[in-house]
Amino acid sequence: MTTYVMEFSDVYYTYPGSRSPVLQGVSLGIPEGKKCVLLGRNGCGKSTLFLHANGILQPQKGTVSWRGSAFVYRRSFLQEMTKTIGLVFQDPEHQLIASTVAEDISYGLLNRKLPAEQIRAKVDLMLDAFGLREHADSPIHHLSLGQKRRLALAGVMVMEPELLLLDEPTAYLDRDQTKSLLRRLDHIHANGTTVLMATHDLDIAFEWAEWICVMDTGRILFTGLPETLLANRELLQTLELGLPLIAELWESLPDSLKESWGGRAPRSLAEWKERVRTDPAAFHVSN
Ligand SMILES: Nc1ncnc2c1ncn2[C@@H]1O[C@H](COP(=O)(O)OP(=O)(O)O)[C@@H](O)[C@H]1O
Ligand SMILES: [Mg+2]
Repeated sequence: MTTYVMEFSDVYYTYPGSRSPVLQGVSLGIPEGKKCVLLGRNGCGKSTLFLHANGILQPQKGTVSWRGSAFVYRRSFLQEMTKTIGLVFQDPEHQLIASTVAEDISYGLLNRKLPAEQIRAKVDLMLDAFGLREHADSPIHHLSLGQKRRLALAGVMVMEPELLLLDEPTAYLDRDQTKSLLRRLDHIHANGTTVLMATHDLDIAFEWAEWICVMDTGRILFTGLPETLLANRELLQTLELGLPLIAELWESLPDSLKESWGGRAPRSLAEWKERVRTDPAAFHVSN
């Protein structure tokens, strides 16, 4: 049976001064221990949903709950939740507050009033884990975007959250930076953290996710396995996000080859290469 760490139940939210709600009855459970993607085009409400997930925004109707208990919109409760639920904003400038890298990582721990020795040890671990050791004493404004993103993630992970939310973490990163971020997230996930990434990038969603939730105009249109979504061409067309590159390549293959590959498209380029390597004869089909 699936356990949901966080649940949204019929959540509505309208920004002050706006006429129409951005969240229009969102009901959604985030499955524990999965690599999850919240997929939807720009402006569909992903960031607004995330701001509800850590209590920065409060639903005007409906509830948000953590492990079966509804959020209480009081400072003490919400402070407690920030230890459990880590949110990495799309723009690291909204997240980074201290003047140097090491200070920034230690910020949340200082608020928790941990002993100095423990704080130093935890910050040290993060500097190594996120490749920031040589920048420990650098002013934050000297960092590149990729480094700032790593720092924002380090500052959240040092709190050891149970659920990690990342808002468009791959935006403006180049291919290598994106790959290295995804491997880092794999590692975080392998260590027991449930991860939910918001993105409009179909290729990244299909390569990385174990579970996908599709949002459009403030509503949830789909939750489930990536391959189930891939089979739902009508929905993918509605989203106007195109097809994943790997699916387009797959469609161009002769039917006989698709069959010999089990009728299922590879999820990533790596899986594609692996199939070609282990089944080279498959390419000698006549069609
Ligand atoms: N602070 C705000 N005040 C008013 N409207 C906002 C605010 N933030 C976002 N919106 C609007 O809410 C809608 C959803 O935005 P957002 O949650 O940022 O979507 P996404 O993250 O999917 O791009 C958009 O139409 C956006 O213009
Ligand atoms: Mg957004």
